[in-house]
Amino acid sequence: MAEAILRFEDKEVELPVVEGSETERGLDISRLAAETGLFTIDRGFGNTAESQSSVSFIDGEKGILRYRGYPIEQLAEGASFLEVAYLLLNGVLPSQPLLTEFEDAITRHTLLREDMKKLFEAFPHNAHPMQILASATSALATYYPDALDPADPEAVEVSVRRLLAKVPTMIAWLYKYKVHQPYVYPRNDLDYAANFLHMVFSVPAEPYHHDPVVAAALNVLLILHSDHGQNCSATAVRLVGSGDANIFSSVSAGIHALSGPLHGGANQEVLEMLEEMAEEGGDVSKFVARAKDKENPFRLMGFGHRIYKNFDPRAKIIKQAAADVLAKLHIDDPLLEIAQELEQVALSDDYFIERKLYPNVDFYSGIIYRALGFPTDTFTVLFALGRLPGWLAQWKELHADPKMKIYRPQQVYVGETKRDYVPISQR
Ligand code: ACO
Repeated sequence: MAEAILRFEDKEVELPVVEGSETERGLDISRLAAETGLFTIDRGFGNTAESQSSVSFIDGEKGILRYRGYPIEQLAEGASFLEVAYLLLNGVLPSQPLLTEFEDAITRHTLLREDMKKLFEAFPHNAHPMQILASATSALATYYPDALDPADPEAVEVSVRRLLAKVPTMIAWLYKYKVHQPYVYPRNDLDYAANFLHMVFSVPAEPYHHDPVVAAALNVLLILHSDHGQNCSATAVRLVGSGDANIFSSVSAGIHALSGPLHGGANQEVLEMLEEMAEEGGDVSKFVARAKDKENPFRLMGFGHRIYKNFDPRAKIIKQAAADVLAKLHIDDPLLEIAQELEQVALSDDYFIERKLYPNVDFYSGIIYRALGFPTDTFTVLFALGRLPGWLAQWKELHADPKMKIYRPQQVYVGETKRDYVPISQR
């Protein structure tokens, strides 16, 4: 095994180099503090791996993303979302009988407890869907206290299935509450994407037939969002899970992490930015100038990524899918043209070239969601639905690791040194 040597003062420590199955190599510093009294500082964890993972592989320089070894381009082309969920959770593609069994097991859990309606109704109608979804996901733990033990594989399995089955129903119901429409119950004869569209868009007053183009596009979007290594929300899921919190609480933490505009919340912000550009006459250069101005906190939403320094392979597929879906649905959306122009202007600008800022997964996804009929503030819950299998796979992987430890980072204390308490009468 390769080793690196670190010298500090009169101490020398040999640090083993851990090699991954692809290109990655990591320095194992687990003995560092014990042997030197030092620990490392790594803002934003840009240089730090907490664990080894076999769920997804990313090569940010080459623009590669694979789930369990399979390129996302191939999965987006040929697989269903639940097939990908099975792959992420189990590490292998299912045979047809195994997939049917998995789909049936999930379908059995699509209903919510009727009491949950009251939970949605406790929120203001204009509450953000991510807040409601995170709360409802956390609340699921209170309905299923029999299946919360992280060390019980059967409990974990049924909780995984309950989450995959109930999150679409929860999103549909929070949406129905928001728009003052009756809740629509799941239809277990439909596939996952079609059932979700049915619960979101149908009303009891008339028959609803989902558009297969819309269901196919949704399936692709869900697949492309399914996992992405140790990103902010997956890390939140693992961090909360590392304290042996139950899987519902852990996923709820992931939803909260995803809601931020620097993470999944960017998909809503991109669309709002494109709308603002359209309202201001479609001149994108002003916005590009603002994004480059160091005095201005504005950023071009949907641009840049911690890992991708070439292009985001998901964005490439979604850009093409956006154009295809709009053409198939005969929608002429001026925001697509503005997005394409913005991409052109930014990608030929030195500021973006030097910093390797390319469109990310969120840049074009909102345009498709909008074409499919989803309101802007539901975009991030759609991301959460897609990311759910990844969070669950990451949580399971953490708990299957015999070396799992509670996450507990160090700090470099820079506060006051010891001082004595002064009674309030003397201050
Ligand atoms: N617009 C303008 N400038 C940017 C942008 C942007 N979107 N993104 C990064 N930069 C600049 C920074 O100002 C910085 O410039 P400097 O070196 O002159 O100081 C440089 O590029 C590096 O940026 P960091 O913030 O250090 O990069 P980091 O890897 O920490 O951040 C992030 C990545 C958060 C995605 C960032 O690019 C960003 O804020 N993008 C916009 C929000 C967004 O689209 N988020 C979704 C990401 S994908 C996902 O989470 C699903």
